[in-house]
Amino acid sequence: MDQDARELLGLAQRVARRAAETARRTRTEAIGHVDTKSTATDVVTAADRAVERQIVEEIRAARPDDGFLGEEYGVQDDTAASGVRWVIDPIDGTVNYLYGLPQYAVSIAAEADGVVIAGVVVNAASGDEWHATLGGGAWRGDRRLTGSAQTVLAQALVGTGFGYSADQRAQQGVVVAGLITRVRDIRRFGSAALDLCAAAEGMLDAYYERGLNPWDLAAGGLIAQEAGLLVTGLTGKPAGGDMALAAPPALHEQLHDELVALRADSGP
Ligand code: IPD
Ligand code: CA
Ligand code: CA
Repeated sequence: MDQDARELLGLAQRVARRAAETARRTRTEAIGHVDTKSTATDVVTAADRAVERQIVEEIRAARPDDGFLGEEYGVQDDTAASGVRWVIDPIDGTVNYLYGLPQYAVSIAAEADGVVIAGVVVNAASGDEWHATLGGGAWRGDRRLTGSAQTVLAQALVGTGFGYSADQRAQQGVVVAGLITRVRDIRRFGSAALDLCAAAEGMLDAYYERGLNPWDLAAGGLIAQEAGLLVTGLTGKPAGGDMALAAPPALHEQLHDELVALRADSGP
């Protein structure tokens, strides 16, 4: 298992670096080809699709028996014989990509029998890279990550994000309005995968978001968990679409209880 995770990680890293290069190199042309998805603000560029195709093609060439779940093309080869499924966000932070804000990333995770065992996130603008394997720690290059040492919620810098629908944002705005008086400050960088890596590294003390999809969370969630953060939902639930909260143990309960009081995992 450990050997498998290392091998899958190595492949994910090589593929993610090339994908990041494609996203960066093709940006000028790609942002001329923009469509919308769930709402008028939920954009997809030609690069989101091309990068996902490139990632799947390269992994498939190396491992023809694996399955895929990607943001742009959904489920492919779901009955994969190997038991391995790749969960891919080709560009996390597409709105930043569109505007040239250097906070967009390629996120690739490998699941074995439904459990994420390896993940890599590459900031495509800067080349910065974070990775983890299950039980093998979280790393930025050769530096092992341990999250923030902050213990006081009132002194914590907390990252979050907002969905694409106005109804969902209205509720998320109420939650953030309730929280902002209880913490040092709030950050909204625009890439859930990079937010989770920032929390793993201690550049954010904690992070939460409602409405994430599996491809937003898979690699970054493992990286945060392997850095020692608790990555959960609320009231005993696992992290997922209702809520993903990533915080060091000393902050987790405090932030969890604030989010419960604000009913942050309910609503549209
Ligand atoms: C989005 C980003 C954003 C988060 C949204 C995601 P996309 O992903 O991660 O930070 O707040 O919930 O949908 O659309 O840029 O891949
Ligand atoms: Ca995403
Ligand atoms: Ca995306």
